[in-house]
Amino acid sequence: METQTSKFNKETGKNFDTIAKTIFAPVYPVIADQIVERTGIDKGICIDLGSGPGHLGIAIAKLYKFKVYGVDFSAEINDIAVQNIKSEGVDQQLKLIPGSADDMPFNNNFADLIISRGSLFFWQDVEKAFNEIYRVLKPGGKTYIGGGFGSDELREQVTVEMRKIDPDWECHGKKQLGKDNTEHARSVLDNLNIDYHLFDDETGLWFMIKK
Ligand SMILES: C[S@@+](CC[C@H](N)C(=O)[O-])C[C@H]1O[C@@H](n2cnc3c(N)ncnc32)[C@H](O)[C@@H]1O
Repeated sequence: METQTSKFNKETGKNFDTIAKTIFAPVYPVIADQIVERTGIDKGICIDLGSGPGHLGIAIAKLYKFKVYGVDFSAEINDIAVQNIKSEGVDQQLKLIPGSADDMPFNNNFADLIISRGSLFFWQDVEKAFNEIYRVLKPGGKTYIGGGFGSDELREQVTVEMRKIDPDWECHGKKQLGKDNTEHARSVLDNLNIDYHLFDDETGLWFMIKK
């Protein structure tokens, strides 16, 4: 876990936050709407797993009536998230709880919705994480876990801007949402006998599990 955490330190966290606040900014509310539309869940308890600087959790907290918990294992990134949550005025609705996907700080059957963007492909133990997610979901609860930019148009817009900063950016993205990672997540879910639906389209790649 140590080597993995070190990828998400103060410097990378600040850089990611700057990008998330500017180039990625239009993506989060679009994904928040897609989550609600596709899962059919628009209230209750929502966990944003691997919440990073908090932008997806903030979008869903602003647009819907969830009680949201952001969970991330990087203390440095959590510090950034706490500031963002305050400055966006959602601190009554969104609480940050330090924790890891493979050891979630929640009771069984706790959450109506577990969402996660751009984090799954960093999880060290995907099997443990999906077991935890299933344990924490309420019966009838759903997940929306994966990665993406919401639409072809938004992805293209982000790509144009990101290319200016990092010419290799598309390669990293294609690898993260690529066949190997996807197949690994699929086979883990199959082995655990967890039913899921995979959205693999212009919105990105998202695993929707229903407990
Ligand atoms: C690329 S960032 C995405 C942040 C945010 N979800 C977003 O879309 O803006 C990935 C985040 O996942 C977190 N992460 C990676 N592995 C994790 C794990 N096993 N448990 C909790 N958080 C994790 C990292 O610390 C990082 O903040």
